[in-house]
Amino acid sequence: MTAGKSLKDVAFRVKMTRNKPKYDLPFLKIRPLKTRSLTISTLLPPSVTHQPVLLKEVVTHLNIQPEGRYLDCTFGRGGHSRAILEQLAERGQLLALDQDPEAIEAGQKIAQQDSRFQIVHAAFSQLEQVLAQFPSPQPIMGILLDLGVSSPQLDNPDRGFSFRHQGPLDMRMNTSQGPTLQHWLNTVSLAELITVLKDYGEEPHARRIAKAIIMTRQQTPLTTTVQLADIVAQAHPAWPAHHHPATQTFQALRIFINRELEQLQQILPQIPKLLAPQGRLLCISFHSLEDRIVKRFIRQAAQGDHYPAHIPIPAAALRPTLRKITRPIYPNDEEIAANPRARSAVLRVAERI
Ligand SMILES: C[S@@+](CC[C@H](N)C(=O)[O-])C[C@H]1O[C@@H](n2cnc3c(N)ncnc32)[C@H](O)[C@@H]1O
Repeated sequence: MTAGKSLKDVAFRVKMTRNKPKYDLPFLKIRPLKTRSLTISTLLPPSVTHQPVLLKEVVTHLNIQPEGRYLDCTFGRGGHSRAILEQLAERGQLLALDQDPEAIEAGQKIAQQDSRFQIVHAAFSQLEQVLAQFPSPQPIMGILLDLGVSSPQLDNPDRGFSFRHQGPLDMRMNTSQGPTLQHWLNTVSLAELITVLKDYGEEPHARRIAKAIIMTRQQTPLTTTVQLADIVAQAHPAWPAHHHPATQTFQALRIFINRELEQLQQILPQIPKLLAPQGRLLCISFHSLEDRIVKRFIRQAAQGDHYPAHIPIPAAALRPTLRKITRPIYPNDEEIAANPRARSAVLRVAERI
């Protein structure tokens, strides 16, 4: 037994090796293995809504000024937006963005009934351009980013985000543009695929998995999520307990297809220019790659201009733009029990100086 593996895992593998492999990949000497996804997929009903993460903490730390203007850059199904609207007075405003047309459809229902609320179909990297089209005299007192995907996206098999559901290989949040995962996976080079799996999934077996994907593609086109999950599961030599072997591969592909890290890197520098003094930036991340970007950005903005260490400049002259408000905030056990998808969330808060 491998160190760190539970008896339950070993039992699972022994039982599963009795199943015939779906793809013949003799070059990898892969153990026949049936993924758990095939059975789980039929059991989970698709979510029509999304349970907002760290809701109380977001409302508290936004420090809402009832007449202020707020931006929810990741509307989803509007859990956070609705809570913000509850705190706003009649002159308060909330502008929401989302790149998913289905999220926009959900948001338009609120906009029809509440004149304080507007929603725009746009990537948040375009925030400055969006605001130029929606000018307002009200100062922007808070900007919220709740990164990643929503439950309706994950749980709708047709969106192709989840290895738990049989669906097309799509994975685009914005279904109105960009290549689907299927198009990209059937044309990508081995080298690029390895880089994506390593850089965005931190997948230690990236080479092995990428080779299996490319070899399979030479025999039969890749078309479905469960097909991909099976290829990964067969190629994967070992994975953490209670994880599906395709978890990191699917994360990597999703981040890549949606340019998630680039989007984050593009929006963050716009934020200090947009926020009014004492306005707040709140960002919820779900994995270390995005949290690292947010943490570094806040630290650098709090330090201000960068000069070589030998030049003596007083701290105030460095023109810092943000200050950190709290330590990172994590969901408590109660929230994680009620909403397991919250378990990897971390909220960071900064304030415009
Ligand atoms: C975690 S969900 C947000 C859930 C939301 N806070 C709620 O309570 O319902 C993330 C949402 O952000 C959207 N999104 C992710 N990246 C985006 C981007 N770069 N630009 C615009 N929307 C984005 C996704 O389409 C998804 O609907």
